[in-house]
Amino acid sequence: MEQELVSLQNQAREQLATIQNTSQLEAFRIRFLGRKGQFSTIMKRLGKVPKEDKPRLGLLANGAKREIEALYSEKQTALASGDSGVSQCCNTIDLTLPGRKPVPGKLHPVTQIMNEVCSIFEGLGFAVAEGPDVEHDHYNFEALNIPAHHPARDMHDTFYVSDSILLRTHTSPMQARIMETQQPPLRVIAPGKVYRCDSDITHTPMFHQVEGFLVDKNVSFADLKGVLTIFTQKMFDKELELRFRPSFFPFTEPSAEVDIACVICDGKGCRVCKRTGWLEILGAGMIDPEVFKKVGYNPEVYSGFAFGLGIERIAMLKYGIDDIRLYYENDLRFLSQF
Ligand code: FA5
Repeated sequence: MEQELVSLQNQAREQLATIQNTSQLEAFRIRFLGRKGQFSTIMKRLGKVPKEDKPRLGLLANGAKREIEALYSEKQTALASGDSGVSQCCNTIDLTLPGRKPVPGKLHPVTQIMNEVCSIFEGLGFAVAEGPDVEHDHYNFEALNIPAHHPARDMHDTFYVSDSILLRTHTSPMQARIMETQQPPLRVIAPGKVYRCDSDITHTPMFHQVEGFLVDKNVSFADLKGVLTIFTQKMFDKELELRFRPSFFPFTEPSAEVDIACVICDGKGCRVCKRTGWLEILGAGMIDPEVFKKVGYNPEVYSGFAFGLGIERIAMLKYGIDDIRLYYENDLRFLSQF
């Protein structure tokens, strides 16, 4: 019986190694492991062996059966994942079958829009500058005329790293960083990531902004309107209505929030534009004289405008996406469409 067990075990191992599909595997299970299979038959015979041989043969039989059961379930898993586990040399290879094409990677839709926005402003003569995501409280707030305890800090739900270090809540710190090292005339855009503790269908905790600012003599609000109108026309390839709503930013005076007619519902009202027909895409205004004074510019001589554009919002409008969070769920079925 000992011999019989060893040869049954070898036979089962060999047969399992050649199995290539589930129907062969099922036939194997019935033959070796089924209720009337060869292992069951041998187990039944164990009852009739001499008493003194029973423990040893029982141990041997159980061990052999367990090993084959383990190999069987390994094979089952391999077949389910599309791998027969059989060496390729045993298969017939059809060399005429077309090869599998590698799927080329693509830029994330938000990156694509970011690049497009930057190249439009570069075309208008703006230089590109980048700054740190982890920022000093000074540049994010103080230098922008937002001292500690100023109520405007509440507009930004800030992620603090320490008392004086934070994840920048907007790209506006770049205004101060550039102006303290360069003299006018200036025409700069600063693209990058910004962070706020904020999440719903039009807000994400990490999003992208492009800051833009222009400082020179005799710059007026009309220049700001002109630049933004050209930008939206180029971005959406059509003349879109822009709406300048009076607003407040401590670093610009006067300030405005700028909406464009909702492209998703053609201004009729939908869940994205909260039934208003308009979607806010940026904040803007004339740079406050206090900000100029902090960087040593003479506000009597120079004036300038600045704006901060939300890139995801532009991407939503451009592609007709009604939930901003889709951009960050990493669902390839969504991302590969762009
Ligand atoms: C600012 O961040 C100002 N720094 C903009 C500015 C720059 C004003 C220069 C004046 C001069 P605001 O908080 O409104 O402003 O954000 C600007 C744009 O970012 C919004 O219009 C919106 O398009 C986008 N935005 C704001 N919060 C989020 C968010 N959580 N998720 C996605 N986009 C957002």
